[in-house]
Amino acid sequence: MHQEKPKENFMVEPNFTRIAYQTLQQGKSIAGLAHKQLSTKLLELFAPEAMPKTQPIPNELFKELRLSISKLEKSDWKDAEEGIYPVSQLFDAPWLEWAARYPLVWLDLPSTWLRRRNKRTRDIPTRIDSEIYPKYYLQNFHHQTDGYLSDYSAGLYDLQVEILFNGTADSMRRRILAPLKRGLKRFKERPEASLRVLDVATGTGRTLKQIRSALPKVELLGIDLSSAYLRKASHYINNSKGDLAQLIRANAEDMPFTNESMQAITCVFLLHELPGFARQNVLEDCFRVLEPGGTIVLADSIQIADSPKFKSILEDFHKTFHEPYYSDYINDDINSRLTKCGFKSVKAESHFMTRVWTATKPDK
Ligand SMILES: C[S@@+](CC[C@H](N)C(=O)[O-])C[C@H]1O[C@@H](n2cnc3c(N)ncnc32)[C@H](O)[C@@H]1O
Repeated sequence: MHQEKPKENFMVEPNFTRIAYQTLQQGKSIAGLAHKQLSTKLLELFAPEAMPKTQPIPNELFKELRLSISKLEKSDWKDAEEGIYPVSQLFDAPWLEWAARYPLVWLDLPSTWLRRRNKRTRDIPTRIDSEIYPKYYLQNFHHQTDGYLSDYSAGLYDLQVEILFNGTADSMRRRILAPLKRGLKRFKERPEASLRVLDVATGTGRTLKQIRSALPKVELLGIDLSSAYLRKASHYINNSKGDLAQLIRANAEDMPFTNESMQAITCVFLLHELPGFARQNVLEDCFRVLEPGGTIVLADSIQIADSPKFKSILEDFHKTFHEPYYSDYINDDINSRLTKCGFKSVKAESHFMTRVWTATKPDK
């Protein structure tokens, strides 16, 4: 006989999960801050000449940052609770692998300091065939050892980003999922499995994995210039359930896809690493590849115009990390760039350090 579940059990489970999520985020935030404080102390001690000349963050600004993180986590929880993605997504990370790699993050620091001190920004593996990459790409973005061009770099990247953002990187990436799902409703009369979603500059595939959990049936594609990062993405995505995601090494400025072949495109944390002309080329090519009615969802750093209160933090970011195009990016007008390509209904919203733009390619 069917027995009804006692009501209080229903209440306990979500509250417990929410507390677990908040505790995890707090733990990540404390770990990220402690890591950064200790590594700054070590830098001061062992390589003071490499110390970036940044401004101290006043208390008021710290409060603003904390408030902004708390809003981000509320949105993250709300979207999960509303079923935009499963609650399990909030806890998803290769925890054991990260724990095993964490000592490497420390061991890698001295070479990062040396590179910063000696202003070596094009210190990339000599074995790579530099002909096949755009010149702007062959650099040590954020002083990353080997740039984006080795398995070693790909193995550390996710953990380093998580530390950089005090454990909020994945929550910020997930902000693309609600607008992506809304955009795909335009094709609701078609079977979900026939819809193609392309993640541009997919890197190690964190965003693709999140899309897979929110939209398990759609066909997933990811492109990136780094074979090493794509190998990592393949390991994370193609070892789990679901159809294989197609991962292609290509330049996002000139993608190997036919016109109008995708119903949605996402692109996370790429634009700030491109010079202005390449930023425009990427958006133009996304427009070309999207089917009319299709949606593009971009996520990248907030900018000065939408977040003036964080101006000093944004301006200091590229003094701390090698980000050659960041200063240009934070003053760039992405809405105008999208409109210039032909996109319509451009909307944007900010979540902690991330701005999310949504736009559609008009129907014919
Ligand atoms: C900051 S990472 C972001 C990766 C990923 N989307 C994420 O959320 O972590 C930038 C990525 O863009 C890729 N990239 C940079 N320029 C590119 C280009 N012109 N075409 C394709 N990928 C590019 C890099 O290889 C790297 O994986």
